[in-house]
Amino acid sequence: MQEHLKDEYVLRAQKEGWRSRAVYKLSEIHEREKLIRPGMTLIDLGAAPGSWSQYATSLLDGRGSILALDLLAMDSLPDVEFIQGDFTEPAVLDELLERLGDRKADLVMADMAPNMSGMSAVDQPRVIYLAELTLDLAHKALKPGGFMLVKLFHGQGFDAYVAAVKHCFGKVKVRKPKASRPHSRETYLLAGNYGL
Ligand SMILES: C[S@@+](CC[C@H](N)C(=O)[O-])C[C@H]1O[C@@H](n2cnc3c(N)ncnc32)[C@H](O)[C@@H]1O
Repeated sequence: MQEHLKDEYVLRAQKEGWRSRAVYKLSEIHEREKLIRPGMTLIDLGAAPGSWSQYATSLLDGRGSILALDLLAMDSLPDVEFIQGDFTEPAVLDELLERLGDRKADLVMADMAPNMSGMSAVDQPRVIYLAELTLDLAHKALKPGGFMLVKLFHGQGFDAYVAAVKHCFGKVKVRKPKASRPHSRETYLLAGNYGL
């Protein structure tokens, strides 16, 4: 807790009006890759408290939409449709796809993190499972040429997951934004050119 309160990104997020320090992970990746543009349809998994959706909606500039989902409640944001539910439940996935309707997404982003036990043998399979479900959703929801950004942890199953993503995306990069704590195994996989 002490570490969190002194964290430069926590203080900066409070000062700049973002809902969480996680915003600086997405903003660093976006500034480098120019991921989000007006007119896009985005899916934000593990969205609460909402800084990624908040940042993305500022870039959409009133043109485009975001479907956001989390286990926890989230305060509303303009152009963001929110579903509260567990992404691992088939009924919740069905609701997400129903709300997407005929639209196809330009970007599926997933910052989901399971409750960590601190035991890698327990936590790592849960992280990989969420990432696998995100990839399944990308197959159902993405436009050809679309992007997926997914939180991962280095460890068992990481290399196999990256290999599976490389099969269906033309470009795959691993990114560790500065706001991702250096001692954490957390990293982000950015995949683009879906199906190309
Ligand atoms: C690190 S936080 C996301 C922060 C968010 N990107 C932001 O910018 O505010 C991780 C989120 O993943 C959510 N989560 C974890 N497992 C989930 C699941 N199975 N279904 C939906 N959300 C999940 C948690 O409730 C938590 O809010």
